[in-house]
Amino acid sequence: MNNVKIIGTGSYAPDRIIKNIDLSKIVDTNDEWISTRTGIKERRITEGENTSFLSTKAALQAIKNADIDPLDIDLIVVGTASPDSFIPSTACLVQAEIGAENATCFDISAACTGFVYALNIGTQFIKTGQCKTALVIGAEVLSKIVDWSDRSTCVLFGDGAGAAILQKSEDNGILSIYTGSDGRNAAKLLGCSAVPVNNPFINTINEQNSLVTMSGKDIFRFGTKIVPKCIEEVLKNQDCKVQDIKYIVPHQANMRIIDSAAKRLDIDSNKFYINLDKYGNTSAASIPIALDEMNKDGLLKKGDKIILVGFGGGLTFGSALIEWMIN
Ligand code: COA
Repeated sequence: MNNVKIIGTGSYAPDRIIKNIDLSKIVDTNDEWISTRTGIKERRITEGENTSFLSTKAALQAIKNADIDPLDIDLIVVGTASPDSFIPSTACLVQAEIGAENATCFDISAACTGFVYALNIGTQFIKTGQCKTALVIGAEVLSKIVDWSDRSTCVLFGDGAGAAILQKSEDNGILSIYTGSDGRNAAKLLGCSAVPVNNPFINTINEQNSLVTMSGKDIFRFGTKIVPKCIEEVLKNQDCKVQDIKYIVPHQANMRIIDSAAKRLDIDSNKFYINLDKYGNTSAASIPIALDEMNKDGLLKKGDKIILVGFGGGLTFGSALIEWMIN
């Protein structure tokens, strides 16, 4: 099996900042409620740019940071719950924009765990020798599927994209990955329908909208249990403990979920990198945006061990133990 490492990162969020107070003009809410319940202060919302546009911006930064030629990329995987279209995939649209003619491209649907799943796919393709250089992206324009009349969900989400380049390597930078899913009651807990079944040969026309619905309390409970479990699982059979981890990069859903996970694991909340105050929950994009910020800000040194941990609709969950290999 080949070794794999991250050689570059990138991210992009739309310019338009929507603060909590701006939302109080649309629904019955206020800054105090949103801040204390979630930690979110503001989020970025697109003014028309779609998911492939955000993905392309993040991908170009990651390519530059990795100092590679787009023609070196032989796999593009985009984790997204809000693609531009059913067909073509967001990954194919990105491929065309960045000129990665040698890549095989597809999207995966794992909601907020999308980046961890995409990272896993890219890693396995490289490990088995199927490809050498993979571009993995988490990207969302959730603002187009959020119900802007539902105050219990619309205040939580934001738009953005993050990307990483994985490459075959001498050193082992992806030490272990843990993933799982639980499809029971999934759509009731957190869902967003696609188009209804409708054709000329049936009598019933199903009425349904395609907006996000969520049982906040159930997802909150799920998050508080699954984040510590994912961290424990990814450390199993590894010669390091959670205390040896420099940073945990969690899915940026809710500060209270992260605080609860820190408590359960008996570690300081400061070990968790947080930027949800600035972006809200950007689903599949939240982990790679955070990772790119940390990379740009020089928080990561070669040899540092970090854990990425995601959870979300599906239900899906996963974590990756990474040794940082960029100098
Ligand atoms: N502003 C003001 N009040 C709001 C509100 C808002 N944006 N949203 C809901 N409320 C109200 C509710 O109507 C309810 O009022 P009531 O008591 O009069 O009925 C009250 O606040 C409490 O609502 P509740 O749903 O019990 O709040 P909560 O403490 O569970 O917090 C969430 C709600 C959504 C913040 C919380 O459940 C959560 O974060 N869940 C996880 C969501 C998540 O992270 N999803 C993505 C995972 S990938």
